[in-house]
Amino acid sequence: MAAPALSCCLSLLILLLLLAIPQTSTAVNGLSISSPGRNRSGGGTLEGHGCPTASPTRRIFTAYASNITCFYNSRANVSCIWSHDEGLRATTCCLHSRQPQREVLFPTKQWNHTCELQPVRPGSWACNLVLGHSPEAQKLTIVDIMKLTVMCSEGGKWRRMMTQDIKPFDYIRLVPPHSLQVVHIETHRCNITWTVSQVSHYIQNDVEFEARLRYADHSWEDARLLTLRQNQQWISLENLAPSMEYELQVRAKPRLGSHEVWSHWSQPLAFRTVPAGPGLPAADLNPEHLL
Ligand SMILES: *[C@@H]1O[C@H](CO)[C@@H](O)[C@H](O)[C@H]1NC(C)=O
Ligand SMILES: *[C@@H]1O[C@H](CO)[C@@H](O)[C@H](O)[C@H]1NC(C)=O
Ligand SMILES: *[C@@H]1O[C@H](CO)[C@@H](O)[C@H](O)[C@H]1NC(C)=O
Ligand SMILES: *[C@@H]1O[C@H](CO)[C@@H](O)[C@H](O)[C@H]1NC(C)=O
Ligand SMILES: *[C@@H]1O[C@H](CO)[C@@H](O)[C@H](O)[C@H]1NC(C)=O
Repeated sequence: MAAPALSCCLSLLILLLLLAIPQTSTAVNGLSISSPGRNRSGGGTLEGHGCPTASPTRRIFTAYASNITCFYNSRANVSCIWSHDEGLRATTCCLHSRQPQREVLFPTKQWNHTCELQPVRPGSWACNLVLGHSPEAQKLTIVDIMKLTVMCSEGGKWRRMMTQDIKPFDYIRLVPPHSLQVVHIETHRCNITWTVSQVSHYIQNDVEFEARLRYADHSWEDARLLTLRQNQQWISLENLAPSMEYELQVRAKPRLGSHEVWSHWSQPLAFRTVPAGPGLPAADLNPEHLL
């Protein structure tokens, strides 16, 4: 191994040793779960059934280079993807999260969460740390730090694969907007509203939106992109063609500076503009608009 890599491992080791000191030996013993024939289907991705409740305190198993990417929806859900070099033959891998020791001012409030990683493609595993039963509950503050540990079981023995600290508010990806609705429609214009859920009060005023509009039979690549640089949950579309079918999608993003990521696009909303006055072939007339 090259010298810089060695010194990096050494400092990591020292850090881990420091972190390991306050942990009790019972927690360590609890990790030696042997799990032949464990029921995977019962576990699901939401809670860490079958996962140890704490991470092994032994040093990191460095045979595989790996990294983890997480997105926090700003309320009670942190979705993570763990990627590693090919060749790992672990049967079960879990993601454990807790507050770093230095963050714990009120030990009674200390939290920890675990989810069972599921393979999503070769070399990648994913799971969601669901921090509470209510999706709208504010489970982390804007200064919270999460200590993440990936552990895998091989032959009934849990090994610590990597640890990483993240500040979830630096990695926000909101839930896509939903409940898109036409509130007003004419021949050439239309007003559409939507709703966003699970948006933290910390970022509420900084949310912006992007909408895209296409003719129903065109691809999204040709869509017109419309930007709303404020938390405005409606859009007034102008210059539309009469009696034309359109589709609109919306996505959301907080303006926070560091690692801005758009939400996925919402479900598309299809709508048809009002026909232009009389004189059109009857087939083009939408009965709803003849009232
Ligand atoms: C595994 O769990 C599922 C759902 O909880 C259950 O239907 C199934 O019978 C279980 N299988 C075994 C082998 O325990
Ligand atoms: C994890 O949290 C539970 C309660 O939520 C607690 O009983 C348990 O001791 C905690 N485990 C660790 C290792 O902090
Ligand atoms: C957590 O977020 C992921 C997407 O990031 C989603 O697929 C999953 O359903 C969410 N889980 C809950 C309980 O909200
Ligand atoms: C994460 O790890 C995988 C597998 O080791 C590697 O292919 C990928 O390039 C890494 N990504 C980053 C951002 O380090
Ligand atoms: C569009 O509808 C929303 C919600 O009813 C309303 O607040 C907004 O003023 C409307 N916009 C226009 C341009 O009519």
